[in-house]
Amino acid sequence: MAKKNIGRSFNIFPMPVVIVGTVTDGKPNFMTAAWVTKLNTEPPLLGLSLGRRQHTAKGIEQTGEFSLSYPTIDDVVLTDYLGLVHGYEEDKAAHVEIFEGALAHAPMVRRCPVTLECRLVQKVELPKDYLFIGEVVNVYASESVLTDGKVDVLKLRPFVLTMPSNTYWALGEPVGEAWSAGRALLKTAEGSDS
Ligand SMILES: Cc1cc2nc3c(=O)[nH]c(=O)nc-3n(C[C@H](O)[C@H](O)[C@H](O)COP(=O)(O)O)c2cc1C
Repeated sequence: MAKKNIGRSFNIFPMPVVIVGTVTDGKPNFMTAAWVTKLNTEPPLLGLSLGRRQHTAKGIEQTGEFSLSYPTIDDVVLTDYLGLVHGYEEDKAAHVEIFEGALAHAPMVRRCPVTLECRLVQKVELPKDYLFIGEVVNVYASESVLTDGKVDVLKLRPFVLTMPSNTYWALGEPVGEAWSAGRALLKTAEGSDS
């Protein structure tokens, strides 16, 4: 198969779409983020890459706390809006019914079925952006998206982002079982994990 070098600007795809909640200059603020990933199992750590101009970055620096809320496909418009304007330009929180957990400075979006509150562990200064590493303190989920006590992605109905097309997508069909489908190629007997 012929390959073409298409440069080095690359967007991992697809990306999760979440809403980050903070208290900045004493007021709740929400922004959309997609550069988010799990970093560590125990303690549960996640990484959030934010532009230095984000009002959200200022809030995390001020309070050491933030939240993540997972919107459903019903909330594409609200989610996109929260990524279009800065909190120092508009009171975006006026569009959000807030749910408060244990932390005082991690406002969450009540209509999002899964929300996490996080405490800042470390801020890494990257050449252009900040990487905020947060420890998940609590995860809250609506009963409606749980199956056997765990978040059921089919019930959650999240959406993802692809760039550079700048498109939101619902999830498609499952295509295989993880940590299982590959067993068809294992030389060793069942149970090998090397
Ligand atoms: C789908 C989407 C994903 C985004 N992901 C990020 C991101 O991961 N990091 C970031 O700094 N900005 C991201 N943005 C841009 C911010 O949401 C936007 O600049 C916002 O106005 C910042 O709000 P704030 O200044 O109130 O924090 C994203 C925007 C959209 C629409």
